[in-house]
Amino acid sequence: MSTESALSIRDLRVTFKTLLGNVQAVRGVSLDVQPGEVLGVVGESGSGKSVSFLAVMGLLGRNAVIEGSAKVGDTELVGANQRTLRKVRGNNVAMIFQDPLSALNPVHRVGAQVAEMVLAHHHGMSKDDAAKRAVELLDIVGIPQPEQRARQYAHEFSGGMRQRVMIAMAIANDPKVLIADEPTTALDVTVQAQILEVIDRIRKEMGTAVVLITHDLGVVARMADRVQVMYAGRVVERADVHSLFHQSDHPYTRGLLASQPTLGRERLSPIPGAPPNMLQPPSGCAFRVRCAHAAPECAGDVPELIQVRRTETACVRAQELEALV
Ligand SMILES: Nc1ncnc2c1ncn2[C@@H]1O[C@H](COP(=O)(O)OP(=O)(O)OP(=O)(O)O)[C@@H](O)[C@H]1O
Ligand code: SF4
Ligand SMILES: [Mg+2]
Repeated sequence: MSTESALSIRDLRVTFKTLLGNVQAVRGVSLDVQPGEVLGVVGESGSGKSVSFLAVMGLLGRNAVIEGSAKVGDTELVGANQRTLRKVRGNNVAMIFQDPLSALNPVHRVGAQVAEMVLAHHHGMSKDDAAKRAVELLDIVGIPQPEQRARQYAHEFSGGMRQRVMIAMAIANDPKVLIADEPTTALDVTVQAQILEVIDRIRKEMGTAVVLITHDLGVVARMADRVQVMYAGRVVERADVHSLFHQSDHPYTRGLLASQPTLGRERLSPIPGAPPNMLQPPSGCAFRVRCAHAAPECAGDVPELIQVRRTETACVRAQELEALV
């Protein structure tokens, strides 16, 4: 399976060296994303979603110590030099973020910025051809009148249109993997749906593997083929989207599902307590300080993912708890 994966991550660990000590942000994440698939990544704030993928992209600061493996094709990204990482970022893996305005240059025309992205990885191409390709890309991501819009500046675009520009830049070189980190969080519901549609179309038409990081389980339900749930820098449950929503065996996932407003429940029950301090994550299962089912054995070894019913679950009591569904 992993040989065909667009992105293959094994035992990824990220530790930030800070004045207060070592922040263990990511503590052994493994995953594969296949071409044309959408992998949803969910979990509370601080669970290590962004840091995992920023590490893969080589976009963390110097205080980050990264261990493990992350491969795109045969290229290992962990420990790779800047030149390799730049090449991979341009050609194989692209990332889009929540706030497109901060990523766009305010003093350059939008079309020129997309064209620059095209030129950066097609050295022989003429400027005219790159400009034409930029207009095509703006068209692909659904920007109306792309020729005129290409001559405008970022501040003349709405939030949704800016996010489309970012996607155009991200797909300029037909990447194998598109990592979208909360791409629609800042947008209203209608625009959010349109952006998700663009991402879905790219995956279908270009066969791009998509990693979709989001707080919003509604977005995951709509877009993802598979989902992985993160807690305290680890993957605690993983399954196809239907199984995760209907047959989760992990108390944390069940808590997340119960706390989501988008699933149409009238009364929400937030998970009690707060995420752990990653300077000193709890031993054993990191969720045990908040888990209603915690037992003495939960303080033992860190639970690994094992197949329980239809999901892979990292909970030592999952077999017993399945009866509680
Ligand atoms: N540069 C840094 N230095 C120290 N700690 C950091 C740094 N960047 C992130 N962290 C810590 O790493 C952990 C994981 O952060 P991350 O940004 O991956 O969370 P997240 O799951 O993406 O959360 P959110 O949903 O809020 O985006 C957090 O505890 C965070 O405080
Ligand atoms: S291992 Fe224990 S504390 Fe952790 S989720 Fe399972 S029951 Fe709860
Ligand atoms: Mg994040």
